[in-house]
Amino acid sequence: MTLAEKVGQLNMVTAHMADTGPGMAPLDLDAVRRGEVGSVFNLWGAENTARVQRVAVEETRLGIPLFFGFDVVHGHRTLFPVPIAEACAFDPDLWQRTAVHAARETSADGVDLTFAPMLDVSRDPRWGRMVESPGEDAWLGMRFAEAKVRGFQGDDIASPHAVAATAKHFAGYAASIAGRDYATVELSERTFREIHLPPFQSALAAGVAAIMPAFTDYSAVPLTGNAAILGDLLRQSWGFDGVILSDYGAIAELVPHGVAADLQDAATVALHAGVDIDMMGNAYLSGLEAAVEHGKVSIDLVDTAVVRVLRLKHALGLLDDPFRRMGENGTWEAIASKGRDLARDAARRSAVLLTNRSGTLPLASSGGPIVVAGPLANAWREMAGPWAGAVDLEQNVSLAFGLEQALPGRELRFPSEDEHGAAMADAETIVLCLGETAEMSGEATSRTKLDLDEDQRRLFDFAAGTGRPLVVVLFCGRPLTVPWIFERADAVVAAWFLGSEAGNALADVLTGAWNPSGRLSVSWPRDVGQIPIFYGQRPSGRPLGVDPKYSSRYIDSPNDPQFVFGHGLSYTAFEMSDLRLSATNLKVGESLEVSVDLRNSGDRAGEQTLMVFLRDPVASVSRPLLELRGFASVFLEPGDSESVSWTLGPEAFEGLDAGMRRTIEPGVFEVFVGPCADVEQLLKVSISIEEKTIN
Ligand code: BGC
Repeated sequence: MTLAEKVGQLNMVTAHMADTGPGMAPLDLDAVRRGEVGSVFNLWGAENTARVQRVAVEETRLGIPLFFGFDVVHGHRTLFPVPIAEACAFDPDLWQRTAVHAARETSADGVDLTFAPMLDVSRDPRWGRMVESPGEDAWLGMRFAEAKVRGFQGDDIASPHAVAATAKHFAGYAASIAGRDYATVELSERTFREIHLPPFQSALAAGVAAIMPAFTDYSAVPLTGNAAILGDLLRQSWGFDGVILSDYGAIAELVPHGVAADLQDAATVALHAGVDIDMMGNAYLSGLEAAVEHGKVSIDLVDTAVVRVLRLKHALGLLDDPFRRMGENGTWEAIASKGRDLARDAARRSAVLLTNRSGTLPLASSGGPIVVAGPLANAWREMAGPWAGAVDLEQNVSLAFGLEQALPGRELRFPSEDEHGAAMADAETIVLCLGETAEMSGEATSRTKLDLDEDQRRLFDFAAGTGRPLVVVLFCGRPLTVPWIFERADAVVAAWFLGSEAGNALADVLTGAWNPSGRLSVSWPRDVGQIPIFYGQRPSGRPLGVDPKYSSRYIDSPNDPQFVFGHGLSYTAFEMSDLRLSATNLKVGESLEVSVDLRNSGDRAGEQTLMVFLRDPVASVSRPLLELRGFASVFLEPGDSESVSWTLGPEAFEGLDAGMRRTIEPGVFEVFVGPCADVEQLLKVSISIEEKTIN
């Protein structure tokens, strides 16, 4: 290979395919012909990718196939819930199954690699990309990472049904200061290691093919050029030998970041850090050859990156058959038609019932008129949320449509604005569909206010003023700070953006055809001023309540969130009892079995999620008040009981000591089990861990 041909393999370009249909205008096929392109993204449709692949294979000197990448963040042609919502299902098996299906659709549509899963542990809802993330908890993020990587990649990424996964954005992007996208990041080494890195380690353990560094910096060095993090940590210490591909234009952005003088310099910094592929930065293409000539970059370094890219192409099976994901696997249409049931099930498991006063929900199958109103009532396109590139939005189901299907025996009214008064006055129930539109969350959608606009507020006030039972269905990509809704509405459902089957799934939840089981994957703040807010905080020396004045508190707001991590109601009730451990003493390195009895004490069948938290109350460093270490969901008929158990391996008790070493500090640990991160709702027992004695 010539140096130019090698550099071409490291260059990834977009085909700018529009959301609206197959048009691939700006992709320069001559650049492909000249061997300047190694991979293409934002192109799908087997015919489209095959056309470009043919140029690479038949018209370049070496005939090396391209690979095709795309953001399949929550489904490809069939949309599943946005990740922040799907995380609320607390169901690794579901997370994996939706990724398997997404991989099948994607791989039948000409695409080899997805830029997913997104694994940024997110504690700041001002940052719009929280919607793409599995929420605030590192342990939950780890389970999400494994499930998604396994689902996308299967046992072998050479399979024509599988796609390579990319864990992104490595790492700490969600901590962008003040929630402003692309801004600088302030993170302690401890928080970086304890909270932001673990999901990526799980992705690696599951065999993830690629990693995408974040746009942002860690400790003042942009990750795209951060040799300590990409080189020393990811490559050397963790042994990652897959492909590191930059985010969109991120190598070129090393210049405005202030760590490179020009594109040649940026290319030098990024390649030294270990970035193999330049996505849309044009830095490798325009700068690497000169950098090699000037001795700034060794040819060995270029070769190493090229070998990684070729190995990925080989692993994807492209060197054997460059067209293997272009129709051989069946058409995506045939596969997508089988995804709707899964999409509906995933969606209803992801909705969270936040409040429900005096049994306002579920809606009965017969009764007086129900008024369905609000800007999101019939907004089928919005149900997609962000990252819905290849989707035919017309296929999405709105809540209005879903309710019509679900309640044939009831009069549903969909009044226009000037009919609200008359329609609502004699409604038996009002269902208001409020929230954000899809484009208000996702990349580059930071917000300083998480409230609703004036029009929605007025509509709500009007509906609440009628005194009729009022249900609010809240569509959003992040928690919204709307305490005025929670105070006055009789029931509120967090509907997020639930994907293709959103309307049917929400109708299932509202009518009780599905007894709601979703649990918040993020703490829901009362006010923007509480952000960042998350359950896993370390204790204060002056905790709330010890002194009326000199304690850690606000003078104008409670400390606790509107809804705690794990909150989510059901139409039935559950009781826990008899929390027990397999031992009262453990030696360092031993496992512990935790069990509890759970009973459905209500009058409907339903599913309950229980969580296990640990706390190390006295250690050499201050440990968080609660740390998630397990969860499980149990379905119970009314009156039935079951014993639920978890095995906590030794790693569950580990923490980073003052020297950042993973270690178990002997002593007492507290074990909590319950439905959410509110200590009042948790059962607690203690266990003592003793030093291992060597005889
Ligand atoms: C986003 C990535 C995405 C990439 C390619 C970037 O703007 O940050 O998450 O994978 O574009 O579409």
